Amino acid sequence: MTQNDMASYYARFDAMAEQLGGRRALQSLLQVGPSALSNYRNRGHIPADKLQRLQSEAKMRGLLLHPDTLELSNHKAPVILLIITGGVAAYKALELARRLGDAGAIVRGVMTKSAQQFITPLALSALTGEKTYTELFDLTDEQEMGHIRLAREAELVLVAPATANFIAKMAQGMADDLASTLCLASTAPIAIAPAMNPAMWAHPATQANLSILAARGVHQIGPDAGDTACGEIGTGRLTAPDEIARTVMKLITPADKPLSGQHIIVTSGPTFEPIDPVRFIGNHSSGQQGHAIARACAALGAQVTLVSGPVSVPDPEDVKIVHIQTAQEMLAAVEAALPATGFIGCAAVADWRPAQFADSKMKKQSHSHIPALELVENPDILAHIAHHKNRPNLVVGFAAETENVAAYASEKRRRKGCDWILANPVHQERGTVFGASMNDIIYITETDNESWGPLTKTDIADRLALKIAAFFTNA
Ligand code: CTP
Repeated sequence: MTQNDMASYYARFDAMAEQLGGRRALQSLLQVGPSALSNYRNRGHIPADKLQRLQSEAKMRGLLLHPDTLELSNHKAPVILLIITGGVAAYKALELARRLGDAGAIVRGVMTKSAQQFITPLALSALTGEKTYTELFDLTDEQEMGHIRLAREAELVLVAPATANFIAKMAQGMADDLASTLCLASTAPIAIAPAMNPAMWAHPATQANLSILAARGVHQIGPDAGDTACGEIGTGRLTAPDEIARTVMKLITPADKPLSGQHIIVTSGPTFEPIDPVRFIGNHSSGQQGHAIARACAALGAQVTLVSGPVSVPDPEDVKIVHIQTAQEMLAAVEAALPATGFIGCAAVADWRPAQFADSKMKKQSHSHIPALELVENPDILAHIAHHKNRPNLVVGFAAETENVAAYASEKRRRKGCDWILANPVHQERGTVFGASMNDIIYITETDNESWGPLTKTDIADRLALKIAAFFTNA
């Protein structure tokens, strides 16, 4: 980690400790002394078992703790009941559990007896950070969480892999073990990801059972064609875990929150580059457009980090705001907020900063001596993020242009390596761009070119947020 990375890690560690009740509370939760806690902070690493305890504590407070960034968001994480039945593909369910967790879900594992021939409940718990349930008549479990509650608390029940035998049991409505009882007791949507030998898959009995389940509204994911775990080629292969996780997360995303599960970083406003303690180089950016975009993405369910230069517009609600002054600080704040699935560079970043900063106010010495201001180039945040090793899936930039708007902006899109660019034609006489509430946009991608406006900056933001939602829905 660079010095900047370390500094931002310390800040996130401290903020996390604060939000979870302070350092003393953390020490007793993790059963460690103050020096161990300081070590986790100073080394930039928390041991996996301790991290899991922190994540469980966060969940109890209705928060989601990101394992890499240590950021806490108050997204209520959906609970997915992952039922693993006994096929060779069961080992892939471990990766599936991890993918669902990455997508922001709380995964509660349930394993049938035969699944335990392939993987252990302990391995699953290590990945989910939750107890794994196996027995219907386990008194302790019944005290901790009865099977009805276990079934009812889930937003979705996912059976993966689903064997031919388990599909048959579901179709018959059997309840002779914990897994089948949960399927019967749950009122939540159910999805199955079948995996079996191709002949078993093609058998009329299996197909008839699947029709029964489909008629009851059970979602079916896969199976795929190819090499199956039993060595035969044909249809019956478990769909790739990341594909199952993506499909499942879409199933539980409310229609009006298409950006839930996405983390989007937005930059907004100007940057101020100090010359001395009282003077700076700045610009007229009001932050209206960037702030409106942050608000629009949050309204569609995204977790938003807004990195803003000095502006007079109020902080939007439901977003995490980081206030900065300079371009270098803006870059550090954006990097600290990674990983993210989207980045929108709306800030009017100063291209240059004074090479030197005078610690005290520069005095006018004489009328004949006018100081020369030497400038150095600022980092290009948009280009940097577009070429980052942790590049967000979607990178969007803006381009304010006075002439050849579409051509210059398309060239800028390619040069900076972003996916989309929103070009602002600067019309001084119409009062668009800086400080105005209306904006004209040409939305440019590799293949599309659309004119939006003149529209209010809020309408532009809403339209962009919907485009982003469509991008992630179709991804
Ligand atoms: N940008 C950035 N960091 C910089 C300069 C610009 O992230 N140091 C981003 C802006 O947020 C915007 C895009 O790059 O999304 C385009 O900004 P613009 O000022 O139009 O482009 P420049 O690179 O400055 O090009 P020019 O001034 O030559 O048109």
